[in-house]
Amino acid sequence: MSVVAIKDIASCEGEQATVRGWIYHKRSSGKIQFLVVRDGSGYLQVVLVKNEVAAELWEAVLAAGQESALTVTGMVREDKRAPGGYEMACQGLEIVHATTDYPIGPKEHGTEFLLDHRHLWLRSKRPHALLRIRSQVEHACREFFHSRDFVLIDSPILTPAACEGTSTLFETDYFGNKAYLSQSGQLYLEPACQAFGKVYCFGPTFRAEKSKTRRHLIEFWMIEPEVAWAVLDDIMVLAEDLVMHLVERVLDCCAEDLKVLERDTTKLDAITTPFPRVSYDEAADLLEKAGTDFQRGDDFGAPDETALGEHFQSPVMVHRYPTNIKAFYMEPDPERPDRALCMDMLAPEGYGEIIGGSQRIHDLELLQQRIREHDLPEEAFRWYLDGRRYGSVPHSGFGMGIERVVTWLGGVHHTREAIPFPRLLNRLYP
Ligand code: 4AD
Ligand code: MG
Repeated sequence: MSVVAIKDIASCEGEQATVRGWIYHKRSSGKIQFLVVRDGSGYLQVVLVKNEVAAELWEAVLAAGQESALTVTGMVREDKRAPGGYEMACQGLEIVHATTDYPIGPKEHGTEFLLDHRHLWLRSKRPHALLRIRSQVEHACREFFHSRDFVLIDSPILTPAACEGTSTLFETDYFGNKAYLSQSGQLYLEPACQAFGKVYCFGPTFRAEKSKTRRHLIEFWMIEPEVAWAVLDDIMVLAEDLVMHLVERVLDCCAEDLKVLERDTTKLDAITTPFPRVSYDEAADLLEKAGTDFQRGDDFGAPDETALGEHFQSPVMVHRYPTNIKAFYMEPDPERPDRALCMDMLAPEGYGEIIGGSQRIHDLELLQQRIREHDLPEEAFRWYLDGRRYGSVPHSGFGMGIERVVTWLGGVHHTREAIPFPRLLNRLYP
């Protein structure tokens, strides 16, 4: 018996084939049972005719509930009305594990109920489609950087220092000393780019965000490139190329999944490079004209990012934010030192920030001064400063939050949908 993946079922048209999977849905007309079987790769309608199969088998299938596991063999034929365009006329079927009372049915369930059952909810069509898109996006990210000769440098999860401010640190005990879960791999990539030229890391990052918004996760995955000799403009081009690559890849490879999610793909088709670039001050002008509550000099809030993103068809890169609202390591603009050489990329359609990046301070004294101004413990950064002591050069990088990108590309509401097992302010389960 050779088993075929449902996604490849078309290759078995007119032949006998065997598939293995789970009952996604079933209905019966008394003489015929229709099963929709899913195997993770696709959905296949299986048709059982009462007087063509053994009586015990007919009864066993009638009794088998949603998500019963089975193996089924039959003739494959084209049927335009069937999901996927093919169906199987059952000739033999084995119930491998009969299930009753599967908790997630076709009826509407509340969000908290579904999140409590996330381990099962993964089997439902929408989460399944979105997480396949996530997988494709992660794969495409890695291909992108490897095709450009970046070296993967895995950064540590347990760290002695804060990269993105001390207010969102997760503290843990490290044999009597304090350690923190990583907020970003950046501090490790900066020295690594002096060793390898172009590097990236890709891993989980942690922020004890007290805010409960649709954009914030406690644990999220970030891909971060860092490039020696690069200035702000260089990484803006890199960020734009990366995001364009991801849009194209998802449109090319995830058409079925986008359909399941009812994504309006015309919005993704409309994206073109070069992406618009506006300075913080130009963005502030736009917001003032739009009459939001925004105060010039402040960081953008979620409504401001939404308003800015909706202004453009493609993602927009906002650059040169005020130095005092950004991270300690950002190089000041030599033409206007109260502005940092940094950028955030905001997605269209109100999805907000997907990328944050900057040129880094490469002067030792200025960096030491900033560490003091930000009240960071100098001792924890001693090793990091060595990069500025030995062959210091301009360098730049950014971080892209995978869940933010997947949420936007999939057109779903909340970032918690874009990660298999979300960690939220009130949720560490399942
Ligand atoms: O802007 P952020 O904080 O930048 C950094 O961490 C830099 N050290 C990166 C670098 O330059 N190497 O975070 C980068 C991105 C954001 O644009 C967003 O996409 C995502 O990480 N992000 C979050 N995603 C989900 N939940 C959260 N709580 C997030 N915080 C940041
Ligand atoms: Mg940011």
